[in-house]
Amino acid sequence: AVRLRVRQALEAREPADAVRVQGWVRSVRSQKEVLFLHINDGSSLESLQVVADPSLEKRDLTFGSAVEVQGKLVKSPHRMQSMELQAETIRVVGPCDIWSFPLKMKQRHPLEYVRQFPHLRCRSNTLGALLRIRSEASAGIYSFFQDNGYVHIHTPIITSNDCEGAGDLFHIETSSEAKESAGKTHFFNVPAFLTVSGQLHLEVMAGAFTHVFTFGPTFRAENSQSRRHLAEFYMVEAELSFTESLQDIMQVMEDLCKTVTSTVLCKCPRDVELFHKYIAPAQKVMHVTGKNCSPVILFSSSCRISYSEAVEILKQAPPTFTFKPEWGCDLQTEHEKYLVKHCGEVPVFVVNYPYDLKPFYMRDNEDGPQHTVAAVDLLVPGVGELCGGSLREERLSFLESRLQRLGLTDAYQWYLDLRKFGSVPHGGFGMGFERYLQYILGVDNIKDVIPFPRFSHSCLL
Ligand code: 4AD
Ligand code: MG
Repeated sequence: AVRLRVRQALEAREPADAVRVQGWVRSVRSQKEVLFLHINDGSSLESLQVVADPSLEKRDLTFGSAVEVQGKLVKSPHRMQSMELQAETIRVVGPCDIWSFPLKMKQRHPLEYVRQFPHLRCRSNTLGALLRIRSEASAGIYSFFQDNGYVHIHTPIITSNDCEGAGDLFHIETSSEAKESAGKTHFFNVPAFLTVSGQLHLEVMAGAFTHVFTFGPTFRAENSQSRRHLAEFYMVEAELSFTESLQDIMQVMEDLCKTVTSTVLCKCPRDVELFHKYIAPAQKVMHVTGKNCSPVILFSSSCRISYSEAVEILKQAPPTFTFKPEWGCDLQTEHEKYLVKHCGEVPVFVVNYPYDLKPFYMRDNEDGPQHTVAAVDLLVPGVGELCGGSLREERLSFLESRLQRLGLTDAYQWYLDLRKFGSVPHGGFGMGFERYLQYILGVDNIKDVIPFPRFSHSCLL
């Protein structure tokens, strides 16, 4: 018998005589004349209907059990699906105790409920759909960059550079170092951290390949209770040489979001539909898809404002914010939300931030003595900040004096070298992958778009 995935069986054009399908039982319905099963193997949201003689029913053929079915693939008389499997044999490979199994037949479990079972929730429809979408989006990101001539770089995960204030660091040490009295020796001779951003490594590579990207795990010791922060997340980062305008960086952010979203909609429309139907309030994701989940109308309108304009808008806003908007201060989540709403619930690019608010590598706009830098944040409805990027300071003298004032000249000699040997105007950005998924699917809690939520009852996960 030919082994078929459920998806292949559902999409088959022609009936087939001897096929074998393996998966987990999603429903069992036993009637006098006939036994119906639905089998799912993660290859699609839809399960394959199996029709069998009631004599094939066994005691351990239950919801959740693992089975192998052999039989004939035939055209289904039902309108809703094209193919079904007429079983000749059904083997229960692994039984499932339905009383203690936390998932129940034909129930739409809330995300908060399945979050308690990180080792089992991938067998629910919602997480199954999410993980397929995540996988397609991931592949779409690689394709987007590779199709546009970018070279993929594996930037280090363990590093001694802290990307100057990108976020709080996780310091790493060996288990013997942890036991000995604090910090006498370092495994790497220098303190080592988990990466908070691959940007500086990408800048090195942009100096040879012009267009580079990285897509990997990123770590920040941040409040794990937030709905949009993780301690371990995936960041997509790109760096472009010979780029003089922020507009070019913004264009790549926009093209990336559009292309990857189209890919996802095209590869798994039913999975996306599930989110839009049952998880996100409809109006929340209207800007992501058009009718029937097909054309991407994402960014059909967007808005671009300067940081200074943003602060003026916030100052004139009726609501009283917890954090008073003030030129020179960071935009808080409440401010980002208001700005997105003010612009009509569309993506908002905020450009040109205060010089003192941003890291040393951002390019001085020279609109006053150290007044603003060429930075851009992309804010999106429902999520807030999705991307952050900037033009980098490529002028040696500007960079030298800034590093000197910060007392960082020694540590960043190598970075200054890049400005001595063939320096070019360049810039780049980073996009949080989980926040991107939250955005296109309308998922409120970031813990529901990762394969394994942390701090759950299964401490070994
Ligand atoms: O704005 P950030 O901190 O930018 C950088 O690290 C730059 N060095 C990137 C670059 O220019 N190459 O982070 C980029 C994005 C944020 O906009 C946000 O979407 C996401 O990463 N992000 C997080 N996502 C989940 N959990 C966290 N704790 C996050 N911190 C940042
Ligand atoms: Mg940022």
